[in-house]
Amino acid sequence: MEQPPTSSGFEAAESYYFTENPPPKNLKSNMVLAREFINRHADSDRRVVLVTSGGTTVPLEEQTVRYIDNFSAGTRGATSAEYFLENGYAVIFLHRQFSLLPYSRHYSHNTRSFLDYMKEENGRVVVEEQHQEEMVRVLGQYNAAKNENKLLILSFVTITEYLWMLREAAMLMRPLGPNAMFYLAAAVSDFFVPKDRMVEHKIQSSEEFAQTHMNGKGEVQSKTPAARTEGKSLIIDLEPVPKFLKQLVDGWAPDGMIVSFKLETDPAILVKKAKHALNKYAHHLVIGNLLLTRKWEVVFVSKMDGEQWIRVPSRRRTRSATGIESLIGKAASQKDSVEEDGPSD
Ligand code: PMT
Repeated sequence: MEQPPTSSGFEAAESYYFTENPPPKNLKSNMVLAREFINRHADSDRRVVLVTSGGTTVPLEEQTVRYIDNFSAGTRGATSAEYFLENGYAVIFLHRQFSLLPYSRHYSHNTRSFLDYMKEENGRVVVEEQHQEEMVRVLGQYNAAKNENKLLILSFVTITEYLWMLREAAMLMRPLGPNAMFYLAAAVSDFFVPKDRMVEHKIQSSEEFAQTHMNGKGEVQSKTPAARTEGKSLIIDLEPVPKFLKQLVDGWAPDGMIVSFKLETDPAILVKKAKHALNKYAHHLVIGNLLLTRKWEVVFVSKMDGEQWIRVPSRRRTRSATGIESLIGKAASQKDSVEEDGPSD
């Protein structure tokens, strides 16, 4: 039977991962911004939530031509960030580059171009009459967040960039104690190509042009590349990404409120897997959702309240419905206040 990793097993996995897979180039400059943001809100005793959003990629080559991606557009994260901002939180929005952003999401990533909201009037560009009211409201909310310095936007592309940023930001948030919340809505890769098994150059589609596998340091690679051509086939042999949720809970942010999401496609296993995650990582709340119904129903699984479904009423369910994030945000922030006052068990 598979044994759960011990705490020292988790620590060893962390140390190995972050030694072998180097940080993104902009890590330092991003963390300067994060530190300044966190300190400012710590001084005013404001709650700070780190919202992760969008999907992480798994590059197959160092000079990346091909990568593995996932479906997430970042709707959950961007919409939830708006909810938190409107309810007094400061938000660090750690998102996949070019995925949806709070506020601008209303006018991007849909079938209309943002130019369709505009018209020309006497040589000036103005917003079409029918969009004025909504745009004034959205712009007002965005400007309020910006002017009060309540929104810090950071981005990642790859799984390794995401993990480095999450770890460093979480450690910086430690002094916030229970005023820190982690709302992990990003769709995080479970498998990846470790640096020491990644080829430098584009994988060739024909063996005729196949090269000796070199790594980024110009050395012949001693390990078999994780992605390579064999005959006419592309072989991809990925390794598991360590589950860093345990490290987040125990080491990086021991006093913060941690909300993770659990995504499944099979309704028969969703609650079971969410409970399993809660037991394994011992954090505050797991929000389970199914790929096909995630826009109108989720299940909250917590030690205090067991299993609770949250649903958008059927008359408000449309393909583009986003109302569920207010319901999720409200329920999660209620749990956040209860945690701060002290859980009952
Ligand atoms: O962006 P949208 O289109 O709106 O979709 C929203 C969403 C479906 C992506 C979101 O609601 C959601 O479910 N996000 C979590 C998806 C996910 O990564 O699920 P998982 O079952 O693979 O992981 C569960 C948890 O473990 C996550 O909180 C993740 O941060 C964590 N994890 C995952 C992989 C990994 N290697 N290490 C981790 O710590």
